[in-house]
Amino acid sequence: MAGSKSSPSSADTSVATEIDELRSSIAYHNERYHTLDAPEIPDIEYDLMVRRLQELEATHPQLATADSPSQAVGGAPSATFAPVTHAVPMMSLDNAFNRDELEAWAARVATGLDLASEAAPVGYVCELKIDGVACSIRYEDGKMVQAATRGNGRVGEDITANVAGISVIPKTLTNAPAVVEVRGEVYMPVSVFDALNVEMEAQGLPRYVNPRNTAAGSLRQKDPSVTAGRNLHFWSYQLGLVDGGPSLDGHGDALDWLAELGLPVNPERRRVSTIDQVVAFTDDWMEHRHDLDYEIDGAVVKVDTLSRQRALGSTAKAPRWAIAYKFPPEERTTKLKEIQVSIGRTGKATPFAVLEPVFVGGSTVQMATLHNDDQVQLKDVRPGDTVIVRKAGDVIPEVLGPVLSERPKGLRKWKFPTSCPTCKTELVRPEGEAHIFCINPTCPAQRQGRIEHFTSRGGLDIEGMGESRVALFIEHGFINDPGDLYFIDWDEVARLEGFGQTSIDNLQAALVASKTRPLANLLVGLGIRHLGPSGAEALAGHFGHIDAIAHADAESMAEIDGVGPTIAQSTAAYFAAPESVALVDKFRDAGLNLEGPVRSEAPQTLAGLTVVVSGTLEGFSRDGAADAIKSRGGKNPGSVSKKTTALVAGAEPGASKLTKAEELGVPVVDEEAFQHLLATGELPESAT
Ligand code: IVH
Repeated sequence: MAGSKSSPSSADTSVATEIDELRSSIAYHNERYHTLDAPEIPDIEYDLMVRRLQELEATHPQLATADSPSQAVGGAPSATFAPVTHAVPMMSLDNAFNRDELEAWAARVATGLDLASEAAPVGYVCELKIDGVACSIRYEDGKMVQAATRGNGRVGEDITANVAGISVIPKTLTNAPAVVEVRGEVYMPVSVFDALNVEMEAQGLPRYVNPRNTAAGSLRQKDPSVTAGRNLHFWSYQLGLVDGGPSLDGHGDALDWLAELGLPVNPERRRVSTIDQVVAFTDDWMEHRHDLDYEIDGAVVKVDTLSRQRALGSTAKAPRWAIAYKFPPEERTTKLKEIQVSIGRTGKATPFAVLEPVFVGGSTVQMATLHNDDQVQLKDVRPGDTVIVRKAGDVIPEVLGPVLSERPKGLRKWKFPTSCPTCKTELVRPEGEAHIFCINPTCPAQRQGRIEHFTSRGGLDIEGMGESRVALFIEHGFINDPGDLYFIDWDEVARLEGFGQTSIDNLQAALVASKTRPLANLLVGLGIRHLGPSGAEALAGHFGHIDAIAHADAESMAEIDGVGPTIAQSTAAYFAAPESVALVDKFRDAGLNLEGPVRSEAPQTLAGLTVVVSGTLEGFSRDGAADAIKSRGGKNPGSVSKKTTALVAGAEPGASKLTKAEELGVPVVDEEAFQHLLATGELPESAT
């Protein structure tokens, strides 16, 4: 500490204490991760602890020890599975957390290879870093004979019976050498993980935390049939021991060879020659990581030429010829300050966490959802806990659970409040519902939610009329319902602080523009329970006017395609309320569009068919062709697939659509055949 009077020896003691604490924390978290498959903290926090320990050991070499966890790979093998000694050790990877660290690694590689900086490029292979469980599979004469976890890198666990149940892993290889050991990552696809959690919630059980832990737990089951039922997948990324086979020059060639043998190798790999290209690869995947059906936490960059890899060699823990370039983390821990409840436009009471701000998933998060009371109780998060927060892609931030080892003594279990935090009305939980509601229709929180929903994109899309302005206008008594927005006294608004003429002009213009939005948007904006955009389109298209919808009974609405009894009943109940009639009258007085184009009742010739259009047609605009298909009951997606009935090609059609259609044997037809198809639901004979 600056200005402290501590002597060098007391500084040394404090470093020694920190080292001790780090070593025991790392050992604890090692066991949670590797042996128990139940890590308590996100990877980044673990990585940062190891890094801190390495730094301290480097600056205080007298305190470094050979058995420090900074020198070890993975965890101790468990007693459940027989030990397997790896013929070639399974190493870990060093991490780079930013471009500077990546460049420093590339510089070490160049120095290690004795290359002048302008010499011939090193040549790297970029791969995705799959967030799963490392596994080594040994094939002898093309037959799978053994599979093992990484364990401590030298000795792993025999999980052959479990790996045998993973269907994407071949049990025999084609043209295989005498021995080949393939290393790769077993993972749980995100779609499988989500489906598993839907099942868990349905059974009132806590959700699984993330696909990696779930994959690890599924793989290390005593009963292999449990593993087999979990639909795990595998990507191969590295060779272990090889006896026989072709002589290979590069790692990229090795991956191609693994694919030829019949093993799953991730197609998203790229050979590059500069660090700029490595960064372009990682930037691209950072943006698109959630388009994949598996989780990745970075990229792995490997020196391509195998002789260069040998020349560079390894440290005790990791090869010098490879580096893991980690993405910014999507999970972090932080302190849960308190749990509050917010009331939405339907009265739904949602608990949310108020957090010490934490930078995660690309932004600072200080609030995160806790979904509902059942989830809070199952996760048992308590104010005062250290919790794991996840913010991934566009998904709203979520609290995954507490770090129990850091729970202060005496924390009380959290109880859901019994009354609405805004209007103090008693909250109710309807029978069979997972949610708790405020049922006071005049509750100000609900009012705020309803007006915000009305002004949102899916509703009348009133730019500039967001959460804070709606709250301010309610507070000053300018608005009580969405209809009031059109009768605001702007002279009054002008007296408020922060409202110049420009912002008033902009808000007024946005309100004028909103008056001509389609009827379906107005219906969505009303926030009728269960009524989404497609149901609203169907109602608008069938009835053509809001008055006709307001007077229709539930039975007649339920008969409309795309509506159904739940939406019909909720819509009829909404319009039966006198407040709703008054609201529609306000809209009428304000001059809002209350009409929608009535959909023509075209014959449903294309029911069940899928027609894709590409290029310019003479008799149809792009939207016109789509309408013609949809109004006849057909589907009109933007791309060709196995399910496509025909690709209609106008002038200058897209090359990729044509190639895809050819590959899949989808008929490509002209505009005349399209007319015939619309009229009859069949392709002319000449086109089939
Ligand atoms: S290569 C000797 N490639 O990341 C090099 N590892 O943090 C061995 N991983 O233990 C690893 N994707 O479990 C490699 N494309 C990839 C990978 C990958 C994920 C895992 C692997 C490794 C860990 C290191």
